[in-house]
Amino acid sequence: MLNKKIAILGGGPSGLAQLRAFEAARLAGNKNLPEIICYEKQNDIGGMWNYTWRTGLDKNGEPVHGSMYRYLWSNGPKECLEFADYTFDEHFGRAIPSYPPRAVLKDYILGRIDEEAIKKYIRFECPVRWVEYDDATEKFTVTVMNHKTGEQETDIFDYVVVATGHFSTPNMPYFKGVEDFPGRVLHAHDFRDALEFENKDVLMIGSSYSAEDIASQCYKYGAKSITISYRSEPIGYDWPDNMEERPLVTHFEGNVAYFKDGTSKAFDAIMMCTGYLFHFPFLPDELRLDTHNCMYPEHLYKGIFFHDNPKMIYLGMHDQYYTFNKLDVQAWYARDVILGDKAIPNAEERLADMKIWQDRHQALDGSDDQNIDFQADYILDLLATIDYPDFPVKAQGELFKQWLRDKEEDIMGFREKTYASTMTNTMATELPAPWLEIKDDSLESFMSLDFVEATVD
Ligand SMILES: Cc1cc2nc3c(=O)[nH]c(=O)nc-3n(C[C@H](O)[C@H](O)[C@H](O)COP(=O)(O)OP(=O)(O)OC[C@H]3O[C@@H](n4cnc5c(N)ncnc54)[C@H](O)[C@@H]3O)c2cc1C
Ligand SMILES: NC(=O)c1ccc[n+]([C@@H]2O[C@H](COP(=O)([O-])OP(=O)(O)OC[C@H]3O[C@@H](n4cnc5c(N)ncnc54)[C@H](OP(=O)(O)O)[C@@H]3O)[C@@H](O)[C@H]2O)c1
Repeated sequence: MLNKKIAILGGGPSGLAQLRAFEAARLAGNKNLPEIICYEKQNDIGGMWNYTWRTGLDKNGEPVHGSMYRYLWSNGPKECLEFADYTFDEHFGRAIPSYPPRAVLKDYILGRIDEEAIKKYIRFECPVRWVEYDDATEKFTVTVMNHKTGEQETDIFDYVVVATGHFSTPNMPYFKGVEDFPGRVLHAHDFRDALEFENKDVLMIGSSYSAEDIASQCYKYGAKSITISYRSEPIGYDWPDNMEERPLVTHFEGNVAYFKDGTSKAFDAIMMCTGYLFHFPFLPDELRLDTHNCMYPEHLYKGIFFHDNPKMIYLGMHDQYYTFNKLDVQAWYARDVILGDKAIPNAEERLADMKIWQDRHQALDGSDDQNIDFQADYILDLLATIDYPDFPVKAQGELFKQWLRDKEEDIMGFREKTYASTMTNTMATELPAPWLEIKDDSLESFMSLDFVEATVD
């Protein structure tokens, strides 16, 4: 065994990708692996995909991590997030539609995990409390609360991999008068069941993925009206009759919201779809990534290694088009560095490399097409020097662009579109009914639908 010890913080898709990267090396015969401990706050693997009905605090009094809700379906085509070493065909044994519900995607993500092999590295119900680095010993001290034993534990590590996600701590803005609003005021993080808003007038604040998807959910499950209030730009889709977009709320008086364009409307509930904060309460200033949801966070060499201390590794910190396969590529790269197969250059070279990506990032016009190409190039840059199986990154990028066009064409119907796998060429099957009519999203129910072979134009 390699005389090194690493801590992985978080057992979601990023943490699992890191564990699996080492497991792949072990299976390939590498006997020189580090000792690994993964600390996970929840009582199971899966991260955000580990759906919980809880909101607020969990059974141990820790902030609930989950932001996912019932009836959530993939918002991007599954063909864009297919693992290069584990295809949908391999998992399901037959073609399925391009936009599966949450439980189906979770089944796929966890399907390639050998739970027995992986879970032995994970300490569940162990939220990380604090991480420190000692310049003299060049080691990290990690302290966790072990809720299973009721005691704090401390251990020493050579590397720390932060894989705690960044869509869990609500960004909750204040609007004058909201404190007197007589109905529910919640953040998307605490939204669970759209049926709660049946026959209600609902206000969404924010104009990104959460606003768009939760608004669509509320429409699907019978809200009376849905108003989306945007700060910068309207989403701009051709919404159904009882949905509309208005500029930002200026203030509330009782149950009435006033908007920047001088209009007003009464509501039963307010949902802040205003994004999430990067929140690392277990890190001191000198180790903490200070960023927001963007395409290339500063201070991360290769988007992974903290510049001030490259033994501090961050996974999954970019805004996301590509998800699971990108997390794999980052984890494989990090593994090779930890194993000593790949060197981290000196500070000057790191800064020069980061500047190239930051300059490219700055030059982007903010359009989805440019962002997708940028993220594809980032993945290809990492992929070029690791032994993760090659996958058609650019072809997946083109599918993302098609997805955006499909949403523009029909926001309530885009999940009925089908695409071919870029890995296996298998054409996805069609849903047997419109997405709006399929209301049971459980794994069993979805997999028992009579999927229709897609018609080729
Ligand atoms: C509402 C919503 C819908 C989404 N839908 C999609 C989708 O359709 N397709 C897609 O590809 N992506 C989607 N995503 C993005 C999703 O974040 C990624 O798919 C993926 O879960 C990121 O993995 P991660 O491991 O980086 O983070 P997470 O999945 O968030 O996992 C982080 C893990 O770290 C643990 N943790 C946190 N703090 C601590 C601590 N202090 N100590 C120990 N453990 C800790 C958490 O419990 C969790 O298990 C969605 C995100 C949200 C919020
Ligand atoms: N079905 C699904 O798969 C699904 C569903 C929901 C979410 N998600 C995922 O969840 C992640 C997070 O998405 P998100 O939409 O929650 O966050 P986000 O993409 O970061 O967007 C945040 C939104 O909040 C707005 N906002 C922030 N502060 C505000 C303020 N003070 N006042 C008004 N508006 C404010 C922003 O407006 P500006 O534009 O002005 O900055 C932006 O529209 C994404 O990766 C997405 O893919 C997936």
